[in-house]
Amino acid sequence: MKKTSLVCVALVLSATLCAQQTKGLKDYYANYFPIGVAVSLRSLSGPDSKLIVQQFNSITPENDMKMGPIHPEENRYNWARADSIVNFAQHHGMKVRGHCLCWHEQTPNWLFKDAAGKNVTKEVLLQRLKDHITTVVNRYKGKVYAWDVVNEAVADDSSHVYRNSLWYQICGEDFIAKAFEYAHAADPNAILYYNDYNTERPGKTARVYQLLKKLVDAKVPVMGVGLQAHWSIYEPTENELRTTIEKLSSLGLKIQFTELDISVYPWEKNRRTKRADDNDAFTAEYEQQQLEQYQKVFRIFREYKNVVTGITVWGISDRYTWLDEYPVPGRKNYPMLFDKNGQPKKAFDAVVSF
Ligand code: GLA
Repeated sequence: MKKTSLVCVALVLSATLCAQQTKGLKDYYANYFPIGVAVSLRSLSGPDSKLIVQQFNSITPENDMKMGPIHPEENRYNWARADSIVNFAQHHGMKVRGHCLCWHEQTPNWLFKDAAGKNVTKEVLLQRLKDHITTVVNRYKGKVYAWDVVNEAVADDSSHVYRNSLWYQICGEDFIAKAFEYAHAADPNAILYYNDYNTERPGKTARVYQLLKKLVDAKVPVMGVGLQAHWSIYEPTENELRTTIEKLSSLGLKIQFTELDISVYPWEKNRRTKRADDNDAFTAEYEQQQLEQYQKVFRIFREYKNVVTGITVWGISDRYTWLDEYPVPGRKNYPMLFDKNGQPKKAFDAVVSF
């Protein structure tokens, strides 16, 4: 071969290699659904920002649009952080999932109380919810394409459908439908989601179904269901995942997996202390089990691409994850597709090889 042709071959090969290296999750899934990531403001200016832009085409503010952070006092909104995240997304041509308009956690202190410190009435609380939703949704109209309108209103306990939160204690179940109506009025083009966790556990699937069916039958503008997907190497099973997608989409709702991570420990919501068998290391066994779990769930997501309209992972890499602190403070977890140095794990290869 002539010297010039050899140079050409070398150039083509290195260009291909380079394209493969910069190909992100979003590119592998271009014919399926957007691939999103939860972000904080810090991650958008630090070393993670490159990975975010390279891998993802949708973002969710991890905390900065929640009611406590964005609306700390009744007459004061704190827009700076959420605005910066939305601007970053626009600058890079990414979608934004808004999260979340009504939740029982991370609420501001003033929300449920009157001046005397007593719980407000239902009328007052619904008016506050309306003001909040209208203001926030309006501000990001046309920039946030989908909202988690109500987060986690269903009980974990099988004897109740609704979580016994202050929202529920003061308003009964009405706050759920109202929240969707307020959001729809503020931005009729936004896609509105109900979002919850452990939704693949059969009892919870049934309760979430019951809530959503009631809303759909009453023509409440709920358009999709967000399944948080805080999973582990132990759950969900293939059958649980399929059943959940089929049952909930049978209501005519779109499905998004909104907070995906795969813990290497079982889900133990009420455990706060470390045990001798928490080994803190990413063992070869965990690596293999996690790879298989990631591979399985993404295979199922692809199969249901007619109803699955988005996947968002709840963190960028194993360097930082909320699961390092929850439920057992100080126990290192390894739930993401990128390792502590931002390098793709074997699970990443499993997810993009199809
Ligand atoms: C829930 C919420 C998220 C986040 C996680 C923990 O799933 O929906 O916003 O707070 O808990 O990180």
